[in-house]
Amino acid sequence: MASPRKTILITGAAGYIGSHIALCCLLSGKFSVVTIDNFHNSYPTALKRVTKIAQDALPADASDDDKKALEIEVYRGDISIKSDIEKIFDEYKSKGGIWGVIHVAALKSVGESGEIPIKYYENNITATINLLDVMERNQVYNIVYSSSATVYGAPPECPISESSPLQPESCYGRTKFMSELILKDVCDSAPEKWRAISLRYFNPAGAHPSGQIGEDPRGRPGNLLPLLSQMAVGKFPEGLKVFGNDYTTVDGTCVRDYIHIMDLAQGHVDALAALPRDDIYAAQGKASGFGASGGKYKAYNLGKGEGMSVLQMVAAMEKASGHKYKTEVVGRRTGDVPELVANPALAEKELGFKATRGLEEMCRDLWKWQSQNPKGYEGQE
Ligand code: NAD
Ligand code: WQD
Repeated sequence: MASPRKTILITGAAGYIGSHIALCCLLSGKFSVVTIDNFHNSYPTALKRVTKIAQDALPADASDDDKKALEIEVYRGDISIKSDIEKIFDEYKSKGGIWGVIHVAALKSVGESGEIPIKYYENNITATINLLDVMERNQVYNIVYSSSATVYGAPPECPISESSPLQPESCYGRTKFMSELILKDVCDSAPEKWRAISLRYFNPAGAHPSGQIGEDPRGRPGNLLPLLSQMAVGKFPEGLKVFGNDYTTVDGTCVRDYIHIMDLAQGHVDALAALPRDDIYAAQGKASGFGASGGKYKAYNLGKGEGMSVLQMVAAMEKASGHKYKTEVVGRRTGDVPELVANPALAEKELGFKATRGLEEMCRDLWKWQSQNPKGYEGQE
C-alpha cells in the first residue's frame, strides 16, 4: 500500500506560483494539499486544473482513492483574518492534522507597495504572524516561506549568495525581509520545535508544459514575461517600453535570473523534504544573511544562476511565439538594479535543488499557456 500523504496547507495556492507548487506537491506522491485563498489575484479554476493535471498523470489502473487524494480542499478566506486560518486547523484536527505549511500568499507589487504600505504590512506581515500563531497553538512547526531576491536590494556583488547583505529598497521588499526575520526569531525561540526555510525566488517565469496553468495577473502586467506573452496575443499594441539601455551589461539593458516555474515549484518539495534534516541548519545564521542564530531557520536562493538581459528575453519570446515585438527604449525604472543573478550553490548542496530547464523551454511553455488561454482563466472552467 502506498504510504499516506502528509497534508500541506499552501496559502495562496490559486496564484501563479502557488498553483505550480501545489501541482509538484501532488505529483511527488508524498503530499496532499489544502489551501486558503481570497482570490484577490487568482481564480478557483487554476486549482481544478492542478488536480486534473495530477490525475491525468496517474496510471490507468489508479483507484478512486488515488484520484481523490489529488483533490485540493479550498477554503475561501483571508489570512490577515486569524479566525479564517483557525477554522482550517480546527477542521483538520479530525482529518489527521496538517504536517506543514507553505506560505505563499502575499501582495507582490513593488510600485503598489509604496502607495498602500499599510495594506502591504497587513497582508504580508500581520498575516504571517497570524499564521505562525495559529500554527504554534496547533503544534504545527514546519514552514516553507515564499521570499524574494528583492531582500538583497542592490547587492554589492553578483552572483548573489545567501550571506549577501539584506537591504530591501521597497515596502514590498521589507515585508519579505521582515517576514524572514519573524520566522528566524520564532525558530530561535524554540529550536526543539520550529523549522523554517525561506526560499528567495529570483525571476520565476514560464508555465507547466501542459499549458493548462500559468501566470494570469489582473490588469496590465508589471513584470516583463507576462507582459511579453500577453502582447503576443494582441494585448498592449503600443509595444514594450524597455526601461533603460545604458546599464553596464551585455547590451545595456538590465540582467535578471529567470527560472522556470516548474523548477522553482519543485524547490518547495525539496525544501519540505529537507525541513526535518538537522544537518542543514548548521551555520544557518551566516548563510541566511542574518547574524548569529541558535534556531532551525535557513534561507536559500532559488535561481538558475544565469543572467539574461531584457533584449535577450524579447528575442527568446519572439522565437517562441513568432510575434515581432515593437520596442521603445525609455528612461530607467526607479528601483531597478543592473544585474540580479543567483548563486544557487547552497540550495543545490543542501536541498538537492537544481534548475534544469532552459530559456527556450521556459518561453515555449509560457507561450503554450498564453496561446491556449489568451484571456487567462477568465470565464473558463
Ligand atoms: P499571485 O498574486 O499570483 O499569488 C498570490 C496568491 O495569494 C493569490 O492567489 C492571491 O489571491 C492570494 N492572496 C493574497 N493575499 C491573500 C490573503 N490575505 N489571504 C488569502 N489569500 C491571499 O503571486 P505569485 O506571483 O504567485 O507570488 C507568490 C509569492 O511569491 C508571493 O509571496 C510573492 O511575494 C512571492 N514572490 C513572487 C515573485 C514573482 O515574480 N512572481 C518573485 C519573488 C517572490
Ligand atoms: C525584469 C526586467 C525591467 C517591464 C520583480 C520584483 C521582484 C520579484 C520579481 C517579487 C527589468 C525590465 C520590465 C517593462 C522593462 N517579485 N522591464 N519593461 O523588476 O526584476 O523583479 O519581479 O518578489 O521583487 O521587483 O522583474 O519582470 O518587473 O523586470 O524593460 O515593461 O525587465 O526594467 O530590468 P524585476 P520585472
